[in-house]
Amino acid sequence: MIKLHNLYFEKYISKHKIEQAIDLVAQSINAEYKGKNPIFVVVLNGAFHFASDLISRFEGDCEVEFIKMSSYDGTESTGNVIVDIPLDFEIEDREIIIVEDIVDSGQTIEKLIGMLAQGGIANYKIATLFFKPEAYTKEYKIHYPGLKIPNDFIVGYGLDYNGLGRNLNEVYKLKSTQMTNLVLFGPPGAGKGTQANVLKEKYNLVHISTGDVFRYNIKNKTELGTLAKSYMDKGQLVPDSVTIDMLAAEVEKNADGKGFIFDGFPRTSAQAKALDELLESKGTAVSAMVALEVDDEVLVKRLLERGKTSGRPDDSNEEVIRRRIRVYYEETAILKSFYEAKDKYFGVDGVGSIEEITERLSVVIDQLV
Ligand code: IMP
Ligand code: MG
Repeated sequence: MIKLHNLYFEKYISKHKIEQAIDLVAQSINAEYKGKNPIFVVVLNGAFHFASDLISRFEGDCEVEFIKMSSYDGTESTGNVIVDIPLDFEIEDREIIIVEDIVDSGQTIEKLIGMLAQGGIANYKIATLFFKPEAYTKEYKIHYPGLKIPNDFIVGYGLDYNGLGRNLNEVYKLKSTQMTNLVLFGPPGAGKGTQANVLKEKYNLVHISTGDVFRYNIKNKTELGTLAKSYMDKGQLVPDSVTIDMLAAEVEKNADGKGFIFDGFPRTSAQAKALDELLESKGTAVSAMVALEVDDEVLVKRLLERGKTSGRPDDSNEEVIRRRIRVYYEETAILKSFYEAKDKYFGVDGVGSIEEITERLSVVIDQLV
């Protein structure tokens, strides 16, 4: 994943695939033009990279000329083709090969063909590294399309987004799939674990439970796990930076997935900001904080009930239970306002059957995407 200006792009076409396509175009052009001393008319700026690769594969005499045209602003065609450097060379009675980086709507090509016609040329062919047939609105034949691609915005190999990306040796495509990243909250006994398991299956999300991530890193003695343990052994809190680094590693492993359910993190607004930064660096963001809301008395009753069978000592003492619930509200109050300020807080009634609660959560999640 890369970021150019404000947008994220993901890897799309490898250098190898591009070179194979260029080899094929070069073969066809060699077969047709060898001995004919053609003029390659390169359309700047984007075609410089392809032109260099293509023309260096041409066997025999040829000439190279440049024109410069532009029509794109950002990721959209303006529909208005401007000629920045005109045709100022002799083309009459010559074999012309137009070299384009990409043919999209075909407006640039149309304008160029008009200019060639004025110069007395009927005999031309078009070579383009990329061709978007779905976007093409013209009738002119594209003789040598290197790679046909769907109607996505791409960068690299000469192509740019507002000036950047031309130097990339692979082609990247604008990231379109928006991830769904949930920060899941719920007081002890609200059924958060149960719902996390249902939601991760239903929406194909990766469940990142901070507790599990800690245990995993410590058990496997990873560098971060060992570092975290050194604080814990001294009875100190693990610094946010260590926790965030562990989460970053988990996020990295699943960066191409549909999204995450964060469970047990963030706990403070500093952590919430760190999570924002982490996700931003991956081209995504927190979609929503979803909190299961359950009345205290219901929670106390549920946990005491669970304590009878679970054997968890913290589930069998009413006072301990009430303290845990209080701590939960103290912690989440700050986060609730943090996400509320971004219109990303959603409280969901957590009393009912598992299916009913999943349904209520789904209503919230479905409107996010
Ligand atoms: P057309 O005139 O619509 O065919 O657009 C051709 C020109 O638009 C190309 O020469 C590029 O400069 C630009 N363009 C079209 N599609 C893309 C793209 O996906 N990425 C970057 N530039 C593009
Ligand atoms: Mg161009």
